[in-house]
Amino acid sequence: MGPSASADRGGESGSDIADPGLAEAGRARIGWARRSMPVLGLIGERFAAEQSLGGLTIAACLHVTTETAVLVDVLRAGGAQVFLAASNPLSTQDDIAAALVADGAAVVYARAGADRVTYDEHIHRALDSGPDLVVDDGGDLVNTLHTQRPELLGAVLGGCESTTTGVIRLRRMASEGTLAFPAVAADTTATRLMFDNRYGTGQSALDGIVRATNVLLAGKAVVVAGYGPCGTGIAQRARGLGAQVIVTEVDPVRALDAIMQGFRVMPMTAAARVGELFITATGSRDVIGAEHMALMRDGAILCNAGHFDVEVDLRALTDMAVEINRDVRPHTDEYLLGDGRRLLLLAGGRIVNLVAAEGNPPTVMDVSFAGQALVLGWLAREHGSLRPGVYGVPPAIDDQVARLALASSGAEIDALTPAQQEYLSSWQPLFPDSVP
Ligand code: NAI
Repeated sequence: MGPSASADRGGESGSDIADPGLAEAGRARIGWARRSMPVLGLIGERFAAEQSLGGLTIAACLHVTTETAVLVDVLRAGGAQVFLAASNPLSTQDDIAAALVADGAAVVYARAGADRVTYDEHIHRALDSGPDLVVDDGGDLVNTLHTQRPELLGAVLGGCESTTTGVIRLRRMASEGTLAFPAVAADTTATRLMFDNRYGTGQSALDGIVRATNVLLAGKAVVVAGYGPCGTGIAQRARGLGAQVIVTEVDPVRALDAIMQGFRVMPMTAAARVGELFITATGSRDVIGAEHMALMRDGAILCNAGHFDVEVDLRALTDMAVEINRDVRPHTDEYLLGDGRRLLLLAGGRIVNLVAAEGNPPTVMDVSFAGQALVLGWLAREHGSLRPGVYGVPPAIDDQVARLALASSGAEIDALTPAQQEYLSSWQPLFPDSVP
């Protein structure tokens, strides 16, 4: 998609966005999201008071959504200058990009539907800022930094990666000794895996599917590939809506867990024959290939909730098709096969909850981004004592995020008494007469 007549290409702001005229609409939607993001709001107040990111430049590659806009505001409140590139051109919300630019919250390089060349160029332009900290979602910014812009690496104090797929790439870099700075795997926290991957993706993936197809999930044979936190959430929510859920896995422990949770588990070759709706969430490639598509029933729906559009083999699907009807509904393409069957592909095989819906709800992203904001504050303070490598989120941050989220939802919990603490930490019998 080319820039519109009103596009801001390197204008006053230096940004590259589709339409600055959308700022008002974007502002209203950011305001709506902010209402459901109290934890981030509290962190923003603290960041503003302490200037936790004072004087730092942050290059971020994130989905340009309302929730990201709230995060950007918090980073800016903390004193950072933010340069934001889109982590997926199909998830970019042009009105949000416009609002961020109009309010001077960030320099933004993002246009919905941008092609691959523009996508890469946007990442380079965010890196042109010469960042002190980087925030990534999927690893493309960190990858570009190491492979194409190594001259910038010396200035980078640390980074933070949002999603499982990006963390896998980071760990590979670290094991090869190429990762040049400390990077925090933000997806490793319990709060994050619970909120973002399980509850968030669980709901929003189905939201995207329903928006794209208006399909009734009750009674449908839904195949979920991958029973990680994302697949677990999707499978549980689909079952909640009355679907008959089948899980495919390659990990025996997770497959067993799925069975114990009451799901049917079988290989994709078997599931392909009975499934009506297929949702991949594995982080791997070719999970649904030509051999599976050959077995599927007429009208089967295929989509992906994993990070990259490689989980459904799109090349195989295209090769098998004698006719492709794009956008039979928004975000739904129909592939007519030689034998007369039709397969429906949602969101072009890309991350369905972000392309066909609005991504995870703000309440979910509140918790995820709260953790990420605190991680950036921690990196700004502690980078001097950290060596290059992949770090988990410090447990104290996870604990703090959960406590803030509980407080903002009005819930209270008990605290261990000193006697309980002693009992739980001692190895000596405190009650010698007690029996197991
Ligand atoms: P995970 O790595 O914990 O789980 C993936 C599961 O898929 C594993 O149990 C693995 O054994 C299984 N798997 C791998 N190859 C398979 C195959 N060929 N067939 C069947 N199962 C297979 O990952 P998690 O956290 O569940 O995330 C999954 C993907 O979703 C990642 O790409 C992640 O980046 C992405 N993600 C998407 C979100 C969204 O908003 N849509 C949010 C968070 C993560």
